[in-house]
Formats: sequence, C-alpha cells, structure tokens
Amino acid sequence: MGLFIAFEGLDGAGTTTQAMLLADRLEAEGVPVHLTKEPSEGPVGNLISLVLRRRLVAPTAGRPLDPFPDDLLALLFAADRIDHLHAEILPKLREGITVVSDRYLLSSYAYQSLGCDLKWIREVNAHAVMPDLTFLIDVPAPVCLRRIEKGRWETELFEGLDKLVVVRKNYLRIAASPIGESMNVILLDGEKDVRALQKEIWERLRFSVQPGARGGVERGGDESQLGLNLGPADEPGP
Ligand code: TYD
Repeated sequence: MGLFIAFEGLDGAGTTTQAMLLADRLEAEGVPVHLTKEPSEGPVGNLISLVLRRRLVAPTAGRPLDPFPDDLLALLFAADRIDHLHAEILPKLREGITVVSDRYLLSSYAYQSLGCDLKWIREVNAHAVMPDLTFLIDVPAPVCLRRIEKGRWETELFEGLDKLVVVRKNYLRIAASPIGESMNVILLDGEKDVRALQKEIWERLRFSVQPGARGGVERGGDESQLGLNLGPADEPGP
C-alpha cells in the first residue's frame, strides 16, 4: 500500500501549493505519487464545485447567501469522499502509489461544523479511510482573506472572515483532540515563506516514515513497505 497524505487548512492557507510541491519532490526522489483534491473531479465533486461558486442553488434553502442547507452540503462532501476513495484513492494506494490529497476528511470536520453537529459529521463519514498523515497549514483568517482577495475577483461560499475565523478554531480544536491523533495531524505555521514551509513538510514526512518513528505512521516500521525511500536529509540552509 502507498502512503496516504492529506493537506488541510483555510482557503488561502496554501494547501494547493504545498500539496503540489510535495508531490513534485516525491516524484523527483523517484517515489510514485498521485496528486488529487477534494472536492474531487468526480460527479458529486463537480456538483459541489457548482454549489461553492453559487452556480447551483436549492430553492428550499431560503438563504440567498448560503444556497444549500448545511446538512445537504455535508452529505454531498461525504458522498464525494466515498466516490473519491473508490474511484481514485484506494486503487492508487493498492498499486503502491503515494496519494497526496489537497483537502480530505478534516475539511468536513472543520467546515461542516459551522452548521452541523460534529458527531453527526463523523457518522456520515464513518466509511472514510483515515489518512496516514495530515498536514494542517495554520494561517490566521484575516491573512487568508487578504491572500484570496489578492488572487481572485470572486469568492466562494466559505470565504468570509466570520466563517474562516470559526473554521480555524474548529481545525485547531479538532487537531488537538483524539480525532486529530487518529489521522496523525502535523500542525504547521503557514505564515512561513513557501520554500521554508516546503522544506519543513519534507523533513516532517521523512521523520514520520522513519522506522519506529514515534507518533508517525505505523505500517510495520519498514520504509520500503511504504514505497518510500526518501534518501538523506536536506543540507541545512544558509
Ligand atoms: P478549495 O479547496 O479552494 O477548492 P477549489 O480550489 O476547487 O475551489 O475549496 C473547497 C472549499 O470547500 C473550501 O472552502 C473548503 C470547503 N470544503 C468543505 O467545506 N468540506 C469538505 O469536506 C471539503 C473537502 C471542502
């Protein structure tokens, strides 16, 4: 089985960039890797993307700025995850390919907690396989919002300051709980320079897959079993 790594954080935290950089680095080291994202490119994922861009509304919602009821959206994210697992993630992992996903289960816990009970969110996601490692890129909400507004002219459903402030709290609280432990959350300072953060992620990954690493992934303690042989550590920077 390949290693399953998820990236998490607020919109604008840099998960897409860091997921891409890690996939590039793994590939450069000769590790077979598959980069993916949630919402996925599957049928339910595409539907969710339309909802996030406010191109699809449920007439019964009655709340013009939140076009879909929270519970319906939570169920769609859970359904997309199962589809994503069966259509893409699990087949790749079984082939021994490392899968890097830009967002996964922790996104549902942190974002859908805005409007739904966490216990229920966990129940509807009970069939989702736990990632081996979850990198949580932590950036304060106002910083994320500034980054989003600089990069785009339209904002998506969750990209408002009030919501992001709560989502960040949810992320940090859940990451520090036993739930965070079950998905091996590694908390990172996302205000660091992109390259410095990439380097830290690489080192944390190397440490986690070391045989017998404490708090790291448990797959029998043999790197070769993970399909990961990451070579020597980086030279310390200047
Ligand atoms: P984003 O990651 O920016 O994807 P894209 O670049 O395709 O727009 O946006 C996805 C949004 O969906 C983001 O606001 C987080 C939210 N989300 C959830 O609320 N729950 C989930 O389970 C997932 C995967 C994402």
